[in-house]
Amino acid sequence: MINVIGLGYIGLPTALMFAAHGVEVVGTDYDADLVATLKAGRTTFKEDGLDELFSSAVEAGVVFSTDYQRTDTYIISVPTPYDKDSKKIDPSYVNAAVERVMEICPKGATVVIESTVSPGTIDRFVRPVVKDRGFVIGEDVNLVHAPERIIPGNMVYELLHNNRTIGADDPAVGERVKELYASFCQGEIAVTDIRTAEMTKVVENTFRDINIAFANELAKICRSDGMDVHEIIRIANKHPRVNILSPGPGVGGHCISVDPWFLVGDYPGIARLIRNARETNDSMPDFVLQRASEIMEERGIEAISKVGIYGLAYKEDVDDVRESPTLQMMESMKRHLCAGACKVYDPWIETDIVANQVHSMEEFLEGLEMVIVMVGHSQLKNDLSVLDAKIVLDTRDVCGDGENVYKL
Ligand SMILES: NC(=O)c1ccc[n+]([C@@H]2O[C@H](COP(=O)([O-])OP(=O)(O)OC[C@H]3O[C@@H](n4cnc5c(N)ncnc54)[C@H](O)[C@@H]3O)[C@@H](O)[C@H]2O)c1
Repeated sequence: MINVIGLGYIGLPTALMFAAHGVEVVGTDYDADLVATLKAGRTTFKEDGLDELFSSAVEAGVVFSTDYQRTDTYIISVPTPYDKDSKKIDPSYVNAAVERVMEICPKGATVVIESTVSPGTIDRFVRPVVKDRGFVIGEDVNLVHAPERIIPGNMVYELLHNNRTIGADDPAVGERVKELYASFCQGEIAVTDIRTAEMTKVVENTFRDINIAFANELAKICRSDGMDVHEIIRIANKHPRVNILSPGPGVGGHCISVDPWFLVGDYPGIARLIRNARETNDSMPDFVLQRASEIMEERGIEAISKVGIYGLAYKEDVDDVRESPTLQMMESMKRHLCAGACKVYDPWIETDIVANQVHSMEEFLEGLEMVIVMVGHSQLKNDLSVLDAKIVLDTRDVCGDGENVYKL
C-alpha cells in the first residue's frame, strides 16, 4: 500500500492514477474539508479527464483520509514555496510531512519526495529530520526524489506519457520505485542520484522561464520602436535552429514562477541571467497596464470602469490562480488606487477572488468599451465574435487581427 501525502493539484491525480492501475492507495491531506469533498465523491479542482480518473480510482478502492498511514511507501506532494526575501526554498511543508511520516512508518519504509525542491534540499533539510528520529538512512529508511513534470490542463495525459526522473541514494531502491511508477507511466523513467534529480527538475522550469523572458523582452524592445514582435518571431522561427516562444502578460502557477528563484536564492552571485529572466517576467503585468493606458488614451476611453479584464487563472483552461499575471496586475492597480474599478471575469473561477468579479460573459461585456485578454481560455477562442464591438488588448495573441485588436 502507498500513502500519498498532500492531495492538491499534483498529489490527487497521482494518487488516483496509482489506484486506477491496481496499486492500493490511501491519499492523506491535513485539509479536512478537502478530504470530506473527496470522500463525498467530488473532485476538488477542474482538469480534463480528472472526473473519469476519479471514478476509476474510487471503483478500484482508493481511500481518502486526514490520517497518515503505517505502510512501507510514502509519496509526499506538498507545497514548496520560496521565501520572498531570501528567494530560497521554504522547506517547512516538506519537513513537516516527513516528520509526521517518521512518527508512524515502520523500519524499511521508502519515502518518496515528489514536491519540487532546490538542489541540496534533501541533504540539508530532510536527512536531518530523518536522522533526528533515530532512523539510519539506507538501512531503516530509504529516501527518494521523484519530481513531477505534468502541466495543468493536460495532467492526466502527461501523467501517463511523460518521461520521469527518479533520484535515489541506492540504485536498487531507485529501480524499485521506477517499477512502482511504471504501473501507469508509459514514458522513459531515468534513475539517477538525488541531487541530480533535484537540480534537473529546477533546471527544466528555469529553462522555460528564461525562454519566456526572452520573448517578453523582445515584445518590449519592439513596442518601444514600433516593430511587430509577432511577425518578427513568426519569421525568425522559420530558421531551422530558432524556436522563440510567444510573449505574454507574465508567468504564474506554482512552478515556473517559483522554481527559478531557488537557484537565485542559493547561487546569487552566479544565477544572474536567471534572476533577470524572473524579473523580466514579473515586470510584464505592469507592462500590460502601461499598454492598456496608452490604448485608452489613443481611443479616448476616459473611465477605467469601461475596461474589463478577461482571465484570472495563470494559464488557459485551468482554475489555478496562484501567482497569476492578472492577480499580479491587480496588485499593481491597487498601488495606483484603481483596483476594483475594472470588471473581471474568468469562466473557470466560480468563487469570488477579486473585487468586481462577475460570473457570466454577458454581465462582463455589458457597458465595456475595452477588454484586456489576460488568458486565452477555449471559451473565448471558440467564439471571438463576442468581442466584435470592443477594443481589445490581446496579451496572448489569440484574438486575431483587426483595427480594434491591439497586441503587447
Ligand atoms: N501545480 C503544478 O503544476 C505542479 C507541477 C509539477 C510539480 N509541482 C510541485 O508539486 C508540489 C505540490 O504542488 P501542488 O500544486 O500540488 O500544491 P497544492 O497546494 O495544490 O497541494 C498541496 C496539498 O498538500 C496539503 N498539505 C500540505 N502540507 C501537508 C502535510 N504536512 N500533511 C498533509 N497534507 C499537507 C495541502 O493541504 C494541499 O492540499 C510542489 O512542490 C510543486 O512545486 C506542481
